[in-house]
Amino acid sequence: MPSLYVFDAYGTLFDVHAAVARHAGSLGPDARALSEIWRRKQLEYSWVRSLMGTTAYDFWQLTEHALDYAFAKVPSADRALRQKLLEAYRDLDCFEEVPATLRTLKERGARLAILSNGSHDMLARAVRSAGLADLFDEVFSAQDCGVYKTAPAVYELATTAFRLYPDAVSFQSSNRWDIAGATRFGFRTVWINRGEEPDEYRDLPPNAVLKDLRGLPTLG
Ligand code: LAC
Repeated sequence: MPSLYVFDAYGTLFDVHAAVARHAGSLGPDARALSEIWRRKQLEYSWVRSLMGTTAYDFWQLTEHALDYAFAKVPSADRALRQKLLEAYRDLDCFEEVPATLRTLKERGARLAILSNGSHDMLARAVRSAGLADLFDEVFSAQDCGVYKTAPAVYELATTAFRLYPDAVSFQSSNRWDIAGATRFGFRTVWINRGEEPDEYRDLPPNAVLKDLRGLPTLG
C-alpha cells in the first residue's frame, strides 16, 4: 500500500457540476451546457495562462472569467444568478463515497493530500464545507508555483514536501489530462473515470482505472 495518496480536487473529490445543479430549476433547459462550458473554459484559461508564463490570475479569478464567458454563450441562462453560482462553487458538494473512502485509507495509516490548480482560499473553503478538513495532511496549490498543472513543478510540490520519490505516491484524478501529467512526472496514477470517458493520452496510461474512489483501498 502506498504511504501517500494525493488527490486532485475538482471533479475528483468535489463535483464541479454541483453548483449549476443546485440552481438548475432557475437556470432552465441549458443549465447542463452552461456548466460544461464553465468547466471547459476554466481549464482552458489555466493552460493558456501557463503557456504565457504568467499566472496573474488565480484559479478563482479564472473560474469567474469562465462563468462570464459561459453566460455570454448561453443567453437563456439568467445572469442574475452569477453570484449564487459562484457561492455554490465555493461550497461544492463532494462525491458521496469520498469521506468514507478517505477515512478508510487514513485508518490504515496512509497520509493524504490534495494537489490542485485551485487557489489556497478556494481549496480551504471547499475542504471545510465538505467536512474533510481533519483527513488531509497537506493541501498543495499550484498557486505556489506560478504555473498550473500539468507543469511538473506542481506535482513536485508533493514529493518535495514529503521527501518521497514520485513512484512512492499514488495520485488520483478524474481528469485524464491530469493523469497524463502525473504519469509523466512519475507518480503511480489512478484514473477515476467517473464519466466513463474514452481513453486518451495513450502514451501516458494510468496504473489503474476506477469508476469512483471506492475501490482504492483494495488496489494495494
Ligand atoms: C484541480 C482541477 C483543475 O486541479 O481539477 O483540482
